[in-house]
Amino acid sequence: MEAVLKSLHDNQQLAMDQLFEFLRIPSVSADSAFKPQMQVCAEFVQKAMVAAGLQAEIISTKGHPIVYGERIEDPSLPTVLVYGHYDVQPPDPLNLWTTPAFEPQIRDGKIFARGATDDKGQVFTHLKAIEAWVTSTGKLPVNVKFLIEGEEEVGSDNLDCFLESSKERLKADVAVISDTSQYGDGIPAITYGLRGIVAAEVKLTGPKKDLHSGIYGGSIANPANALARICGSLVGADGKVQIPGFYDDVLELSAKEREQFAELPFSEDSFLAEIGSGAAFGEAGFSTLERRWARPTCDINGMFSGYTGEGPKTIVPSTATAKITCRLVPGQQPEKILSSLETFVESQCPAGLKFKFTSFHGCSAFVFDPNSVWITAASAAVESAFGKPPVFIREGGSIPVVSSFQQILGIDTLLLGWGRNTDNLHSPDEHIHVADFHNGILASAHLWQKLSEVSR
Ligand code: BES
Ligand code: ZN
Repeated sequence: MEAVLKSLHDNQQLAMDQLFEFLRIPSVSADSAFKPQMQVCAEFVQKAMVAAGLQAEIISTKGHPIVYGERIEDPSLPTVLVYGHYDVQPPDPLNLWTTPAFEPQIRDGKIFARGATDDKGQVFTHLKAIEAWVTSTGKLPVNVKFLIEGEEEVGSDNLDCFLESSKERLKADVAVISDTSQYGDGIPAITYGLRGIVAAEVKLTGPKKDLHSGIYGGSIANPANALARICGSLVGADGKVQIPGFYDDVLELSAKEREQFAELPFSEDSFLAEIGSGAAFGEAGFSTLERRWARPTCDINGMFSGYTGEGPKTIVPSTATAKITCRLVPGQQPEKILSSLETFVESQCPAGLKFKFTSFHGCSAFVFDPNSVWITAASAAVESAFGKPPVFIREGGSIPVVSSFQQILGIDTLLLGWGRNTDNLHSPDEHIHVADFHNGILASAHLWQKLSEVSR
């Protein structure tokens, strides 16, 4: 371990320079204009795996390529499957970035770039830790398999197919993902539960083109009025989702878990100040942490219809569209929720409008046992690097592969996030703290040692 730590210390600057190179590749999975850059990025990841002492290859899919690498030291050692994603969210709105999204820059101890925390910076910590182990000791204390994909930010549509066809190859004792956050500044965390998600788009079409609202208004259904009514019906004033059957399968929080949430340091005022909101709002009868981590939601992500430019324009628009997502909790089934949503929305569509419902990605929620031997080992690794034991938390975001690992490969995942929720993921000025990046590498280096000591 001494030699590994020395190597990490000596190579801090190099690790940053290489991360910068990774961050300069605009690997935006959602936008087909960036397709060539996805291949370039996959090649970068493959090279980084080889440099870390892994055998690695690029595997093409119907969408963006997967990069897979492994190093099998000894079949009797535990095998760890590390997952991450090299794709990033679109950088828009571009004008809100202080410096361009794909030109990484350090300011105030933070590295600014799209993907800095979600998820390139975090993926890179594991590659650098493995590299230090291999170059300084010639071996690893565990077997590792790395699966780094390029479609996480668009729902990992082609990943399950790869998991199904590679079950034997991906066989592992436990998975590790660093794509979540610490609990707060100076409070490292291990996440033992995430919410699931379903995503859909509703489009209402009325007259074949926009019409004069004076001549025709009031005589036919207006798609924008109808959609507003429908969207307004999704969540009640008490914060409850109104889709019939929505809560039927929800596993309620235990009294013990509610107590554990309540014991975490949390200030509603700082939370609101941080995000710039005037007041908390959500399902009646639940705390903010409960609402964010363990209660299902229905959110409109975007609505567009008619004229949205400057000044008035008197029309009945031809179409109206809304993008909707529901975050799910354990017990709820994505397919069932999607079909209840579709039925509820369609039942309110007025006569004369064409109704179109399109569904996108989906995945279920999960919770793991926070007392597992793996979590205990990971906890010690996090403490060695961050100087404090991690708190155990759930999170409201989704990582589709985690439930696939559970369902297809039969393994649990350790969610070890080095970033922070305030790192502006999916927003302008995304960043990772330089200290979190280096501590993440350190925690990863300790993790392999600790996991090798777990008796299975
Ligand atoms: N890294 C996030 C998920 C995350 C962030 C979990 C912070 C917990 C805390 C991930 O890259 C992400 O954004 N996932 C999407 C998934 C969706 C596109 C299927 C999400 O949650 O919106
Ligand atoms: Zn993300």
